[in-house]
Amino acid sequence: MKVRYIQNVAIISDDKYNNTDKQTIEKTVAGILNDRPDIKKILRKTTESIGEERISRFDVIYGDRSTEIEYKEAGCNFIFDINKSHFSFSLSGERRRIANEINDGEKILCLFAGVGPFPIIIARHKKVEIVAIEKNPDAFYYLLKNINNNRLIGSIKAINADVEDLFKHVEKNSFDRVIAPAPKIDKDFSSFYIDSLKKEKGKKIYLYDFCHANEIDLLKNIPWVLNVKRCGSYSPRVYRVCIEIDIGLYQMFAMLL
Ligand SMILES: C[S@@+](CC[C@H](N)C(=O)[O-])C[C@H]1O[C@@H](n2cnc3c(N)ncnc32)[C@H](O)[C@@H]1O
Repeated sequence: MKVRYIQNVAIISDDKYNNTDKQTIEKTVAGILNDRPDIKKILRKTTESIGEERISRFDVIYGDRSTEIEYKEAGCNFIFDINKSHFSFSLSGERRRIANEINDGEKILCLFAGVGPFPIIIARHKKVEIVAIEKNPDAFYYLLKNINNNRLIGSIKAINADVEDLFKHVEKNSFDRVIAPAPKIDKDFSSFYIDSLKKEKGKKIYLYDFCHANEIDLLKNIPWVLNVKRCGSYSPRVYRVCIEIDIGLYQMFAMLL
């Protein structure tokens, strides 16, 4: 079984879902508690992330029965129900990297905000105006709770809506940066990213996607793509990437083509 530690929570998963016998699970739990006596809860992942909301299922096999977990990152506190909302633990380095790139005074759009890791960490470290959009009402409940718990009311405007309805809530051409940790589904939201940004050089989209190694090389040759940063792996030679696009360059080339 695979074991992953998220602070004082351990998450175990089978190589193939639910094919592990009881004895192996008991042995794994005993091993975890022996190695890490600070562990408060052990969850067993029973499904992959599914659907637009990217929710996986977890059973509690040690600790109190709640699937609500607490997590700290970059000086911020998060609470969320792991069975009702998605949280990308593996993007913690990205959240810090992007928060560092942002300048005070900017206007930032965080799409697919989940329970708030991107907007909350950015708002904690920079004096910016942030709009965060999340569709799943359960994730949105925790987004509001996390904004409140981190004393960031007033810095983040949270909207419970579908990105497809974005321009019912925000003005076009008004943001300096768009951050889009999009769900792995077959829908193209690119017109929303493009239309929300000010049309000037240096205004950027950070799009998270999954790409094969060969596609990464092709993307790097596109003149308006500033960077394709690997930030995790999905399967052999398929990586999670952050594709950084300069909208000013995109517009300039679009006029020439
Ligand atoms: C991959 S998760 C990212 C969550 C969070 N940003 C993080 O990094 O942990 C994608 C999120 O987008 C939300 N979502 C999916 N489709 C959406 C849509 N059309 N409009 C708004 N939110 C959507 C899901 O509910 C989910 O919370």
